[in-house]
Amino acid sequence: MGSGFDIVPLDAGAVEACISLEEASFSVPWGRQTLEQLMNSSAFRFFCAKDGEGFVCGYVGVLCACGEGQILRLAVLPSRRREGIGRALVEFIISSADVLRLERLTLEVRASNEPAIRLYEGLGFLKTGERKNYYSEPREDAWLMDLDLGRR
Ligand SMILES: CC(C)(COP(=O)(O)OP(=O)(O)OC[C@H]1O[C@@H](n2cnc3c(N)ncnc32)[C@H](O)[C@@H]1OP(=O)(O)O)[C@@H](O)C(=O)NCCC(=O)NCCS
Repeated sequence: MGSGFDIVPLDAGAVEACISLEEASFSVPWGRQTLEQLMNSSAFRFFCAKDGEGFVCGYVGVLCACGEGQILRLAVLPSRRREGIGRALVEFIISSADVLRLERLTLEVRASNEPAIRLYEGLGFLKTGERKNYYSEPREDAWLMDLDLGRR
């Protein structure tokens, strides 16, 4: 929970808002089909931040398997950035670790994505490696980062 917004599980009614978030946030956005498929799979957990009027202003998607949660998506509406929403979404996953049965969080992030890297480092994530030329549009290396939830 952050000031002015609540974090709740993503429901089918919020797919349209997620498509907008995707298009505003990623060079290769997920479309409706991908989002709906993943939302219907029990291994994927999605949560969104809704403002006081129920408007979706950010969302996070995690693939949970074998005690590990891979953060696949984290996006905040451009007009609502730097309000603590991105951090609150990741903190929500961290504080839900027991319920989600997670011992570790992992993620990949573009090497040039300073806002996201700073956010993750601020929450204790450490860089564990790199994947060369992992991303396209534009081609770029990925940083691998993780957070050992058992050590918190
Ligand atoms: C990365 C992203 C999710 C951050 O969301 P946000 O709600 O703006 O982030 P927060 O307000 O919670 O910021 C938390 C911390 O992240 C860091 N941060 C966020 N934006 C930053 C920026 N533009 N420059 C530098 N640091 C930044 C800061 O350390 C910040 O803490 P502070 O405000 O106390 O200084 C958002 O910029 C976004 O949606 N980007 C496009 C999609 C994306 O890159 N997703 C990550 C994929 S791995």
